[in-house]
Amino acid sequence: MTATQYLADWRPYPFAIAETRLDFTLAARTTLVRSAIDFRRTGPGDLVLDGAGLKTLSMTIDRRPVDPALIRADQEKLIIPADQLPDSFTFEAEVQIDPEANTALEGLYLSGGMFCTQCEAEGFRHITWYPDRPDVMAPFRVEIHSDKPVLLSNGNPVNTAPGHASWHDPWPKPAYLFALVAGDLRAIPDSFTTASGRKVALNVWVRPGDEPRAGYAMESLIRSMKWDEEAYGREYDLDVFNIVAVDDFNMGAMENKGLNIFNSKLVLATAETATDGDYERIEGVIGHEYFHNWTGNRITCRDWFQLCLKEGLTVFRDQQFTSDMRSAAVKRIHDVQTLRARQFREDAGPLSHPPRPDHYQEINNFYTATVYEKGAEVIGMLKRLVGDEGYRKALDLYFDRHDGQACTIEDWIAVFQDATGRDLVQFKRWYTDAGTPRLSLTEEWANGKLVLNFRQHTAPTPGQAEKPARVIPIALGLIGPNGDEVLPTTVLEMTEERQSFAFEGLGARPVVSLLRGFSAPVTVAREMTADEQALLLAHDTDPCARWQAGHDLALDALIDRTRGKAGGEALIRALGGLLDDAEADPAFAALCLSLPGEEEIATTIAASGAVPDPDAIHAARRGLVQDIAEAHEVALTRLFDAMAPQGPYRPDADGSARRSLRLACLGYLGRLDDGSRADTLFTDAGNMTERQGALEQLIALDRDADALARFAAEFRDNRLVMDKWFMVQPLRAAPEKAVARARALAARPDFDWKNPNRFRALISGLTANHAGFHAADGSGYDFLADWLMKLDPVNPQTTARMCSAFETISRYDTGRQEKARAALRRIAAMPGLSRNTSEMVTRILA
Ligand code: PHE
Ligand code: ZN
Repeated sequence: MTATQYLADWRPYPFAIAETRLDFTLAARTTLVRSAIDFRRTGPGDLVLDGAGLKTLSMTIDRRPVDPALIRADQEKLIIPADQLPDSFTFEAEVQIDPEANTALEGLYLSGGMFCTQCEAEGFRHITWYPDRPDVMAPFRVEIHSDKPVLLSNGNPVNTAPGHASWHDPWPKPAYLFALVAGDLRAIPDSFTTASGRKVALNVWVRPGDEPRAGYAMESLIRSMKWDEEAYGREYDLDVFNIVAVDDFNMGAMENKGLNIFNSKLVLATAETATDGDYERIEGVIGHEYFHNWTGNRITCRDWFQLCLKEGLTVFRDQQFTSDMRSAAVKRIHDVQTLRARQFREDAGPLSHPPRPDHYQEINNFYTATVYEKGAEVIGMLKRLVGDEGYRKALDLYFDRHDGQACTIEDWIAVFQDATGRDLVQFKRWYTDAGTPRLSLTEEWANGKLVLNFRQHTAPTPGQAEKPARVIPIALGLIGPNGDEVLPTTVLEMTEERQSFAFEGLGARPVVSLLRGFSAPVTVAREMTADEQALLLAHDTDPCARWQAGHDLALDALIDRTRGKAGGEALIRALGGLLDDAEADPAFAALCLSLPGEEEIATTIAASGAVPDPDAIHAARRGLVQDIAEAHEVALTRLFDAMAPQGPYRPDADGSARRSLRLACLGYLGRLDDGSRADTLFTDAGNMTERQGALEQLIALDRDADALARFAAEFRDNRLVMDKWFMVQPLRAAPEKAVARARALAARPDFDWKNPNRFRALISGLTANHAGFHAADGSGYDFLADWLMKLDPVNPQTTARMCSAFETISRYDTGRQEKARAALRRIAAMPGLSRNTSEMVTRILA
């Protein structure tokens, strides 16, 4: 039985910590952890410490033994009654832990012979007894004894000698930001001088031999440090900044103070092994973790319900960083695509929750698209409402007022209110209410006057039936019938359920360019003709709205085709115009050429109240690709050739724009040339972007045997590249072959399923193959369930995250639903199922 945690139950911790001292003697099976914590009473109550799976050798308070009977192993707590405690005291403990047995990758574990830690959210309790909650902050001193050559922890190094190192972190921090690394590592060293002249030593630590692959990560770190000074006035605050790459990691990366730990796939890159997308993610995530130093570390969260306080803000900051480093328009469109694909999907199903949830069973299940990406969108809206200057003032006040504190969303909203004078009571609903509002628009036109009637509606979500109106910033413009912009971007503030806005003195009826810059995370319902969509696609001045128009045009055509109707003529015509001047903006052309994915088509059909048929959707999309290819063969061929590489590979915006357009053209041309261009490109390409693109095309055309074998022979020893090999096969296989392929791959000896990257590569490759995963016979569901049951006892966190593949099942036909539910019930019935997976399965089945 697992207890639910409630936001309403939060109480202040009754002690402050003056200093935490830790001493590690590392050994794979028997690591000894000695701790000394200086407590001072600040309020009434017992001393409650968290500990999980610890072998406790001794515990004392001011050197007097603590009765081991006070350990409540079932609750993973040690509770020392208030009357046994002086007002100030030192708690000391000696515990033994087993890093080698730690396959869950929470706490201290081994990855390829290297000791490393992961403590967010509640990993520190697997290391020693401690108040493992984010509002208890302390400076740390750490001693490490080990024969590993490199011994790292947070803060500044105090002493290093062979076999021993000591570290001091003067900045008070919660235990979730603790980190330790010990291994045979090599550094890419560099340095950065801050605006106020402090010289910081920088290192990216990798395994011997990987040094040539870590340069881009270092460059990205330096760009991040500079950007945070320029954009937010935030300087780094220690003498050293270390980044370590590890192969076994549940998530992307972790912002431990002064010692970020990264999944190696977000550090290591060369042109031959990493794609443009990989490079962009590396830069973005290096930035993200670095930016946490202020938004997360210097100012942290009071409790885990406030997770979006640090994550939403830090995602928003990393998005700003990427748009400054690359193309702002392309970045925004990519972010909108991800938000829709992941967060709207989450919000439309049984896992829907607000950016600030008010209850959970397992906090690891709340590192979600809603907390991260919607959390960032909410800040984007706030910025739009208070303006750039108001935003800067509010952020300055936030850093000023809350430095060194553990804060709440209320604190965050208060700085905006205090800095700008704006009342944000209604705005706060974006944090507390779940669900994606649906914004409908109807228009009235007469005598040069256009009236826009808006209505907002949010469907009920689990536990929240009532959905009061929210503040919705609606950025729009008007485009005249000749393509001229007759109204530049204007922001309307909608606060009621229904609201109308009028525009007068217009010559001819314009087309509304709605939700410019994607000004609010809402879905839109409006009637538009294909001609109106084509007009916006040709003339809109806002890249987001312009792309959206083309996307809607394609989506409508695809949905018509799933219903057996003709569709796509207007799209095909519009694409003709776009292809003619695609060279002026290759990234935009590539975005328009990538038709909506099958998952999104299914979502749109479901939102209209119909039942999506995965096979019909697949066929419709394939048919449209074929028709576009045939209609535009000449232009596509010309562009494919024109976008051939010029000079050496560079992972920048311009180069990746050209490659994305080239691969988009290849996706069509492959349907006409039977894969011969893909074959040639696969052999000749000098970079992984084109290589992988060609390989995916060959798999889709079922002409992959030779290429796959060559790829595997070449990259056998590179785990990250082999992850791609495992991922693209089930992802791009024809639906009827996807499960069988996944099954064959899972039987290979190099399917190292205990490694989260490898597991996710194969399994998410399959679940992202929409018609393949949703095979009518339920084989996709069974395959997933079997593997989730196998992984759960080993790694509950990764297992639970992957349960979300089931979150959309209720939109499909009863046959599929029953098969998916049976698979989920099988998981639910497994003896010893983890709290993580149990919570996910229960919520999905509810
Ligand atoms: N805090 C990390 C980030 O967003 C994510 C993370 C959470 C990593 C939990 C590991 C474990 O940057
Ligand atoms: Zn983060």
